[in-house]
Amino acid sequence: MPPPGFDVDERLAALLDHLQEIGALTDERWRAAFAEVPRHLFLPDPIWADDGARDDGWMVPVGRQDPYWWENAYADFALPTQVDDGAPAGADGRGRYTTSSASQPSLVALMLEALQVEDGMRVLEIGTATGYNAALLSARLGAENVTTIEVDPHLAEQGRAALADAGFKPTVVCGDGALDVPGAAPFDRVLATVAAKRIPYAWVEQTRPGGLVVTPWGNDYAATVLLRLEVGQDGTASGRPIGEAPFMWLREQRSAKGAWSDHVDFDAPVRRSATQVDPQVLAEPCGGAEFAVGAMVPHLAKALFHARDGSGEYTLWLYDTRGSWASVDFVPGAAEYAVEQAGSRHLWDEAETAHRWWEAQGGPGRERFGVSVGPEGHRVWLDEPARPVPTPQGPRTWSHRS
Ligand SMILES: C[S@@+](CC[C@H](N)C(=O)[O-])C[C@H]1O[C@@H](n2cnc3c(N)ncnc32)[C@H](O)[C@@H]1O
Repeated sequence: MPPPGFDVDERLAALLDHLQEIGALTDERWRAAFAEVPRHLFLPDPIWADDGARDDGWMVPVGRQDPYWWENAYADFALPTQVDDGAPAGADGRGRYTTSSASQPSLVALMLEALQVEDGMRVLEIGTATGYNAALLSARLGAENVTTIEVDPHLAEQGRAALADAGFKPTVVCGDGALDVPGAAPFDRVLATVAAKRIPYAWVEQTRPGGLVVTPWGNDYAATVLLRLEVGQDGTASGRPIGEAPFMWLREQRSAKGAWSDHVDFDAPVRRSATQVDPQVLAEPCGGAEFAVGAMVPHLAKALFHARDGSGEYTLWLYDTRGSWASVDFVPGAAEYAVEQAGSRHLWDEAETAHRWWEAQGGPGRERFGVSVGPEGHRVWLDEPARPVPTPQGPRTWSHRS
């Protein structure tokens, strides 16, 4: 039961007004679907929240008896719904990593609209989790047209139960959504509510020619983008970034755990050099250079630290979680910046080479890039599929890298 004075209908309507105001919900048919699905019916008890008392990155459970649970059910926030794969890592019951969540409602709406569905279309959702998104799809298209797959058996069962309790009966499959759902294809649309570093070809194969695959896509270096790919007659899907989509990775494509400093051996022998490239250009969030470096340099992650002394100095750290790292110190007014590199790879040199290529193309923004996915893997291109970005393996090679 909601706490006294908490009117679910009012809160839901206010959330939908907000989604409409910020341009996330523009289609009346989707608004009608959202209005049919009270979000609180899909939130588990407990959800998880940052431990405000200790502010140390760990999370604590928050149950339905807490007003926070209800307030957030109708706020435009993503809510952690599982930590540490269901076994909270803290000895005191606290959780370290979010392993499932109820996505942010505005992102849910943007992604559903990006699917460009028409009545009667069949949709496959990857990542059932709470079941909320599958309920929205069911409200819009009819549950008979919706299949959703979740890799975690406990979550799949929870999602299935929440859907049934709320009156929706889409097909809920427990399994690895990176693989085919046996006997279910073809679909008109595939929607991943989990991010991919390598887009599973199964998503393309299960979509009819002319159909769309909408998925968050990225790597550990650049901000994750939302890709909309159209499946061609030749079995290849191609498309461009259409926005931002910060999501957790597919379970089998997760990044190495820990902070950047866990992956940097400060005692390793260091090679010193200097660069004239402003490291911030390479790291500018959501910029074209960041996108190009992330796409071109395999296994790369970054961390950027600004000095707090007002000097304007900062350090960019690059690392690959396999023993190689680099750091570049930016000092305002300096003619060049100190570089340190360690490990078997020369990560700064690799990043600078990618940056040089990007500059030579005229410094294109992220929106000029695109991605094609075929049975061989994925390929990133500039302006058109016939212009692949070079990779360490060569300009025309499909990449399976993580
Ligand atoms: C952000 S949540 C999805 C939110 C969900 N659509 C909702 O409405 O609540 C991502 C989910 O993807 C699931 N997942 C991760 N890897 C998967 C895989 N290979 N196949 C299917 N589900 C996967 C996670 O267990 C997690 O529950």
